[in-house]
Amino acid sequence: MNVPFLDLKTQYKSIKDEIHTAINEVMENTAFAGGPFVAKFEQEFANFCNCRHAIGVGNGTDALWLSLNALGVGRGAEVITVPNTFIATTEAISLAGATPVFVDIDEKTNNINPSLIEAAITKKTKAIIPVHLFGQTADMDTIIDIAQKHGLYVIEDACQAHGAEYKGKKAGSIGHTGCFSFYPGKNLGAYGEGGAVVTNDDALAAKMKMFRDHGQAKKYYHGIIGWNARLDGIQGAVLKVKLKYLPDWNDARRKHAKDYTAGLSVVKEVIIPQEADYARHVYHIYAIRVKERDKLMSYLAEKGIFCGIHYPVPVHLQDAYSFLKKGKGSFPVAEKCAEQYLSLPMFAELSDEQVAYVVDQIKEYYA
Ligand SMILES: Cc1ncc(COP(=O)(O)O)c(C=O)c1O
Repeated sequence: MNVPFLDLKTQYKSIKDEIHTAINEVMENTAFAGGPFVAKFEQEFANFCNCRHAIGVGNGTDALWLSLNALGVGRGAEVITVPNTFIATTEAISLAGATPVFVDIDEKTNNINPSLIEAAITKKTKAIIPVHLFGQTADMDTIIDIAQKHGLYVIEDACQAHGAEYKGKKAGSIGHTGCFSFYPGKNLGAYGEGGAVVTNDDALAAKMKMFRDHGQAKKYYHGIIGWNARLDGIQGAVLKVKLKYLPDWNDARRKHAKDYTAGLSVVKEVIIPQEADYARHVYHIYAIRVKERDKLMSYLAEKGIFCGIHYPVPVHLQDAYSFLKKGKGSFPVAEKCAEQYLSLPMFAELSDEQVAYVVDQIKEYYA
């Protein structure tokens, strides 16, 4: 049996006619950059997230960078986040002119350990970026309490958490802004690049709309120095079609996760992901933890099962961030997890047989 890590084709085929109709409409209207197809998607995505505004942007990195800019978090500021994230989280902080300050994670949730945040706050701290890694939200009540006590902004990196919930609230709707990536492999993926910021703050939304469009609210009248970070019309139309299916796709992921967990919980060598009491996890990634994961990964590949690693090197140990001088041992939990993570195949269209086959092969490996 062949079990790819991700299969975008099967999903595309299931909605092909609708997608082609939507793309044709954009072509007929030549509404390519921003425009009405983006605006319709923004409205629906804002509703989906229970937020007043969604601002479509070029990608998830833009969403984070735009949030920081609009909140005035830049040169001289420190921004607290985690080292076990995709580097885009810290790239946005750095390109805004600020400095990332890392806090270790809680290995039960793979997310920021809130009990370590206050010790990392200095006079320069302006914001916290919790990353809802793998599709499970961070412990937002505790984070918001700390932020309010110290007058900090909270920017949710929800790039892996479309439709995830924290105590019934949608990921992205809790902080000052919530940032999403629509990279093709995401739970809600574009057919190209895409991203969005959601917020309930009217003034912030207006500022971000200007920012993403060269600082203009009216064509060729530039109130602020902005950037080109627009979402394109074809992606808006594609995402609007796909958004309708997202709840079902997330349910399917949750079912696969449940089956993986049921099958693997008896394998003592495997640490399975845990769902926090407060969370509705949407399993963008189903990452187990095992010792010597590369050996298991190769064994599974021989059996036709393809896994991923998210992420092999924490950000503080990347060459790009060596200037922070946070060597090995600085964030022991994140470092241990990075050595052990193995992401199993996960996408809505996986069959029950494929999931059972993955479980059986892992059991056989350890037998
Ligand atoms: C946690 C996290 N943050 C930010 C991003 C950046 O998103 P994009 O690739 O759309 O710029 C990603 C995308 O992989 C991500 O996983």
